[in-house]
Amino acid sequence: MDPFQQILKSTLARTDAAPQAAVPQTLLETALQPQLPTVVADDFLSLAKARRTIYTLGKDLPVGEEEVIATIKEAIRQAPSAFNSQSSRALILLGKEHDRFWELVREQLRKVIPAENFHATADKLDGFAAAAGSVLFFEDQEVVTHLQRQYIAYADNFPIWSEQSSGIAQYAVWLALAEKHIGANLQHYNPLIDLDVRATWNIPESWKLRAEMNFGNLIAAADEKTFIDDDKRFIVAR
Ligand SMILES: Cc1cc2nc3c(=O)[nH]c(=O)nc-3n(C[C@H](O)[C@H](O)[C@H](O)COP(=O)(O)O)c2cc1C
Repeated sequence: MDPFQQILKSTLARTDAAPQAAVPQTLLETALQPQLPTVVADDFLSLAKARRTIYTLGKDLPVGEEEVIATIKEAIRQAPSAFNSQSSRALILLGKEHDRFWELVREQLRKVIPAENFHATADKLDGFAAAAGSVLFFEDQEVVTHLQRQYIAYADNFPIWSEQSSGIAQYAVWLALAEKHIGANLQHYNPLIDLDVRATWNIPESWKLRAEMNFGNLIAAADEKTFIDDDKRFIVAR
C-alpha cells in the first residue's frame, strides 16, 4: 500500500475518532499505521478530509513534474471567478527555482527578525525548502480595476470577489494535489517578498501576490485536527 493511502487512513481514522493503534514507536510509524482498512479518497468528501496541512514534505513526487504542472493549471483554470473574470494567476516553481524561492524568503525574513530569534524561523524555512515545489498565487489587479470601471454598481465588490476567487483557486489546487497523493501547506510571506518575487521571475506589476503553497511527497502525517460544534457553525431551516 502506498504511503499516501496509509497516511490518509490514519488521518481519517483520527478525524473520525476511530480506535487508535497500539503504542506507536516513531512519528513515521504512527503515520503509516493502517487503521481503517477500506477508506480511499474516491469521493469528494473523502478527498476533502484527506487534504490537510502537511509540513513534513519531500522532493520525491509520486507523479512526474509535467503532471503536477498540468494538475495545478487545470485546477486553477476550472475554479470559478466573479463574472468569469479569471483573475487568478500562478507562478509554479520546481527544483532549483523552488529552492531559490525559499532562499529569497529567508533573506527577507533575516532583515526583520532579530538574529537571536532567527533559528526557529530558519528551521521552519528548511522544512519548506525540503519540499519539491511551490505555487505562488496572485490576483491580477488589472482585471479587478477593469471590472470596476465596466460595472460601476459592483465596484466595491470586485476586490472582495477577487480575494474569494483566489481562496477557491488555492483550495482547488490543494485538493487536486491531495488527489495525486501530494501533500501541501499554505504560507503567507507576502507582502514582504513581493518585490523580490516580481524581480526574480519577471512577474507583471499588476499581479498581486496572495499566498504561497508548498508541496511535495508526504513524509509525516498532519497534526490532529479538532472541530467546533455544528450548532455553533450551522443553521438549518426547513
Ligand atoms: C486563508 C488561510 C490562511 C492560512 N495561512 C497559513 C499560514 O500562513 N501558515 C501556515 O502554516 N498555515 C496556514 N494555513 C493553514 C491552516 O492553519 C490550516 O488549514 C488549518 O489549521 C486547518 O488544518 P488543515 O489544513 O490540516 O485542515 C492557512 C489556511 C487558510 C485557509
